Amino acid sequence: MATPTPSKKVILSGIQPTNNLHLGNYLGAVKNWVKLQKDFHCYYMAVDLHAYTVRQDPAQLRDNTYQAIAIYIAAGLDLDHCMLFVQSHVPQHSQLAWLLNCNGYMGELSRMTQFKDKSSKAGANIPVGLFTYPLLMAADILLYDTHLVPVGDDQKQHVELTRDVAQRMNGLYGDDTFVVPEPYIAPVAARVMDLLNPTSKMSKSAVNPNGSIFLTDTPAEIDKKFKRAETDSGKDIVHDRQNKPGVSNLIDIQSALTGETIAAIEARYVGKMYGHLKMETAEIVKKELEPIQKRTQELLADKSELDRILKNGAEKAIAKAEVTLRRLHERIGFIMP
Ligand code: TYM
Repeated sequence: MATPTPSKKVILSGIQPTNNLHLGNYLGAVKNWVKLQKDFHCYYMAVDLHAYTVRQDPAQLRDNTYQAIAIYIAAGLDLDHCMLFVQSHVPQHSQLAWLLNCNGYMGELSRMTQFKDKSSKAGANIPVGLFTYPLLMAADILLYDTHLVPVGDDQKQHVELTRDVAQRMNGLYGDDTFVVPEPYIAPVAARVMDLLNPTSKMSKSAVNPNGSIFLTDTPAEIDKKFKRAETDSGKDIVHDRQNKPGVSNLIDIQSALTGETIAAIEARYVGKMYGHLKMETAEIVKKELEPIQKRTQELLADKSELDRILKNGAEKAIAKAEVTLRRLHERIGFIMP
């Protein structure tokens, strides 16, 4: 049987340790990881191999990787429930990625929205890794017999590709070769939008950093960014993504952070002005981030403890990943060492 722990299904997800994590990463991913952790067997990574699809400053990459892991813990991931590790510490990810490279098709990879986006910004020499990146992500997921992949809306297409490749290979090598995963997309804030340009998603690589709330932003920066947030014409505070993307984004952020329904938030703002919505959203965000920032700094002050956590996570991840990889090697017809 492919499933490792009959009692609990498996969750896996990851974030690229590039630049600082932002509110979109937090609401689209980390906050849901925390929410789901008790009910699943969880693997959460800092995906440094994915980050390397774009040139990285070595010192910055190291800092960002520690910081991502510290944020995961500070946000509430419990080491009793979750395996935290760094992708490059588990060589099986690169090994399986090669095998998936031999089973993914040029056509399907060319259709990936994120590849089209990123390659259009890469200039004349587009790294091959940017093209095959979704198959490395598929390897991440398939190595652990993952059932559920909690991601923001922008990664759904990559999880769907993972499903296609898994089903294709199950057709070749037997139905229990890979567990076919499902995406988990949160009902609210699965696509947090840029504060200055609310028809584009909040992104680490946005031209203007004032459109993104970084998890490291100070309270004054958060206030300033929300104050400047683009709102829409008119003055009613209603959720309407088509006609009021800026206002809807702020309502979504509030709802994702407080659990209050969109209807209840709209009702609270009847007769109020956009300024109230901006100011109160900033307050809610600051309240959420403050303890996370404090705890992140404490964790970053003891790198040897983070190293210990990562070593432990990688050992457990390797043990599982090796079983999956061997299963596939055997079925492909490689001689087993
Ligand atoms: P990455 O690093 O771009 O983003 C990490 C997570 O944050 C989510 N996200 C958002 N959610 C809501 N609103 C936004 N504006 C926003 N921006 C980003 C992403 O959807 C993602 O969940 N390839 C992946 C990382 C990865 C991975 C994996 C994920 C590698 N292997 C295996 C899941 C499973 C990526 O580049 O995410």
